[in-house]
Amino acid sequence: MSDRLGGRRLLVRDLAQLATPAGSQAPLRGEALSAVEVVRDAYVLCEGGRIASFGPMRELGAELRESGGELEELEELDGRGFCAIPGLVDCHTHACFAGDRVDEFELRSSGASYEELHAAGGGILATVQATRAAGEANLTEAVRRHRRWMRRAGTTTFEAKSGYGLDRETELASLRAISEAGGIATWLGAHAVPPEFADGDEYLDFALAEVLPDAARLAVAADVFLEEGAFNVDQARRYLTACRASGLALRLHGDQFTELGAIPLAIELGARSVDHLEATGDSGIRLLAASDVVGVLLPASALFLDRPMPPARALVDAGAAIAIATDFNPGSSFCESLAIVSSLAATQLQLTPAQALSACTVNAAFVLGVAGDVGRIAPGYAAELVLLDAPDWRHLAYHLGGDLVATVIEGGEVAWSRAAERSEPNRPR
Ligand code: NIG
Ligand code: FE
Repeated sequence: MSDRLGGRRLLVRDLAQLATPAGSQAPLRGEALSAVEVVRDAYVLCEGGRIASFGPMRELGAELRESGGELEELEELDGRGFCAIPGLVDCHTHACFAGDRVDEFELRSSGASYEELHAAGGGILATVQATRAAGEANLTEAVRRHRRWMRRAGTTTFEAKSGYGLDRETELASLRAISEAGGIATWLGAHAVPPEFADGDEYLDFALAEVLPDAARLAVAADVFLEEGAFNVDQARRYLTACRASGLALRLHGDQFTELGAIPLAIELGARSVDHLEATGDSGIRLLAASDVVGVLLPASALFLDRPMPPARALVDAGAAIAIATDFNPGSSFCESLAIVSSLAATQLQLTPAQALSACTVNAAFVLGVAGDVGRIAPGYAAELVLLDAPDWRHLAYHLGGDLVATVIEGGEVAWSRAAERSEPNRPR
């Protein structure tokens, strides 16, 4: 049965497979995290930017008769040889930045550590300098460009954080730039202490009084970097409590290098997620698993910094709700591809392809507060789909960084296709 949604119709037909997280719950944990519904020889019918129905091709005739409308109104996309999965959801990126840190990357490749560079005023603060100097129009263009990169790797919904401004003007400009480019904005007002402040407390006095009132209108969530050399647990509590009182959902960067109590704080404050967790030990795993907070795992970041991987398998086995994300940023994870991250989830985090798919679709959507709208192929959901150039949907995790994504559909229309891009003249993307 299809809901009659009205508006433009797109039929993706003759798909080798269609795969989607099963059921309607979010977030998925335990056995439900592995429950993927697979339809072979499948179609998806989109109408008015929403999914109207999906199923095996043999049911398509009846479906079209039932949904009414003339066949001529129907745009058709040939899915032969492709697998459809939900558009991927990147719930943790720092996509709003100017410049790059390729010089720092070169230093790191010859032995300097990320923490040493940060302590020497490089790292995050180097990007703060470049981002402050860029201006809002350039920042918006940068986020748009990064969004194009993400889309080509299958991401249709992305979150991006501010946090490279750390002054009123640039933080607010960053949040506007993210929304302008189609992202879900998170105010990472407590990312680092900028050089014009003596310490974190003094900086937070400023940020909470001068930036929060406007940031709360522009962002949906707040985030803090709880780490030695950034913000301590009392400062993180103060920042997040004020942000919650202004209506923002809460996120934390926690347990990246040191376990300073991010998980208990996230639970105490009812945060949506705690992200990183490379340094999380057994008691943190147990606490998180027994809570409603989602653990967001960022294997590309751990790989990029040559750090230990987060204890993903232990978290999943203990019953925690987990998501995976890129952490795309110029310093610790210059990787915009959730397709690559899905592969790292299988090879580095010991997640199955099904768990990886759920972690970067429905569970990531939950972290962003958009579960029920994106992250599944199901009637009524936004018509956001990725067609993989593969005979089996598990190639999402199996194919490490290959030319896997053929077509990206957003709002029931083709937003990007490899075929169209190949016929365009050579130019920077
Ligand atoms: O999630 N850890 C803090 N923030 C980012 C890195 C930002 C940067 O290096 O520019 C992260 O890894
Ligand atoms: Fe991050």
